Amino acid sequence: MTQSERANFGTKLGVILATAGSAVGLGNVWRFPYMAGENGGAAFIIIYFFCVLVLGIPCMISEFIIGRHGQSNTARAYRKMGGKAWSVVGIMSVLTGFLITSYYAVVAGWCLQYLWASLAGDMQGDPAYFTSYFTAFTQHPVKPVFWLIVIMGITYFIIKKGVEKGIERASKIFMPTLFILLLIIVVASCLLPHASEGIRFMIQPDLSKINSDVFLSALGQAFYSLSIGMGCVCTYASYYSKQTRLASTATEIGIIDSIVAVLAGLMIFPAAFSVGLSPDSGPSLVFITLPNVFQQAFSGIPILGYVISPLFYALLSLAAITSLISLHEVSTAFFAEELSITRKKAAFIVSITTSAIGIFCALSFGVLSDVTIAGMTLFNLFDYVTGQIFLPVVGFLTCVFIGWFVPHQIIRDEYANFGSTSAGFFHAYLFLVKYFCPFCIAVIFLRQLGVI
Ligand code: PHE
Repeated sequence: MTQSERANFGTKLGVILATAGSAVGLGNVWRFPYMAGENGGAAFIIIYFFCVLVLGIPCMISEFIIGRHGQSNTARAYRKMGGKAWSVVGIMSVLTGFLITSYYAVVAGWCLQYLWASLAGDMQGDPAYFTSYFTAFTQHPVKPVFWLIVIMGITYFIIKKGVEKGIERASKIFMPTLFILLLIIVVASCLLPHASEGIRFMIQPDLSKINSDVFLSALGQAFYSLSIGMGCVCTYASYYSKQTRLASTATEIGIIDSIVAVLAGLMIFPAAFSVGLSPDSGPSLVFITLPNVFQQAFSGIPILGYVISPLFYALLSLAAITSLISLHEVSTAFFAEELSITRKKAAFIVSITTSAIGIFCALSFGVLSDVTIAGMTLFNLFDYVTGQIFLPVVGFLTCVFIGWFVPHQIIRDEYANFGSTSAGFFHAYLFLVKYFCPFCIAVIFLRQLGVI
């Protein structure tokens, strides 16, 4: 594909909604609210915003610069900017995206199963029921695989339609729907009796809980939540036009992602506190605790009693699928351009291969639970290797690449759209990406590995 034929997002709104779709995902719903509640409420939220500002946004701008400059898949974009040696970082980034696609699709499939089950009225029972439902479902030899294939099929059909007609159009429908669903549930949740206790839990500042670990968790979460280091941001930026302002786009995405994270907390905590249940994080929050919370909190309320669970799982499915699309696109663009095949063929290859790997991950909760590598099931292994190792390494090397190796004129040209827009905050950006971001990422990484 020549440069002039290369696909582009058609509108500014499309750029924002597609990129925000990648960032807004399960991390916003099942990780951020709990971290905020446990780590000092409003004090944590302020630290988190600060981390998004000084770490997340600069890293995102760097990936934007590489992607848009390269006008190609992530591996080639690194190569174009830095030569063969740096293409290794691009390849690692694509590989990270590819591997995450496989297991993220498994969880996205779970969201669909729960949407289906809540529509069928199955999300009703005592607390033990929800635990056994989740265990029975995730250990089932067929159902998780079936939903994995369904979600991958949907993703394939969107991706194969192309950037503007597929990804952009889907984001323009999915993202506004997600916001509306979120707002409905937030209002319903905040109107419950004793809701204020939940709101207080999340936003009450508790400075005594702030320590260096809290800073590190906030940094890690900011990084993950903005989908940095997996090629998603870089690949999407390769579809941006030369008029797209990279720094302000990154800032807008950071703001949208943070607002969704805070709203997710205002959806979860008031409902949980109104029925006296303490929320947790991760899969057990959204697949065990919350169905129970919603059932208890809303069961006596006409209409809401029936619709709140389906609305919540529809929201979760949308959040997951927009992130999955961005992950899938990383490898699709890579295969299409590196193997010189059509987008449709590339998308098909990615869907088939990631589904095949995903099946092993899906079954690692049941029939393959005995298969472990380094003491981890396949699902956990993928999660660990991609999230704890590849992600920080790619993020670190990307900052070093941009900060220390790429001529600053190239960076400035992309940053300021070749002088047609202002280069405001350029020096601050460069300082952060050169010194602050690599330092912080290195500290998080070494801490995760237990070295410091
Ligand atoms: N940023 C997403 C979230 O907050 C996570 C994600 C992971 C997105 C992988 C894309 C790819 O959940």
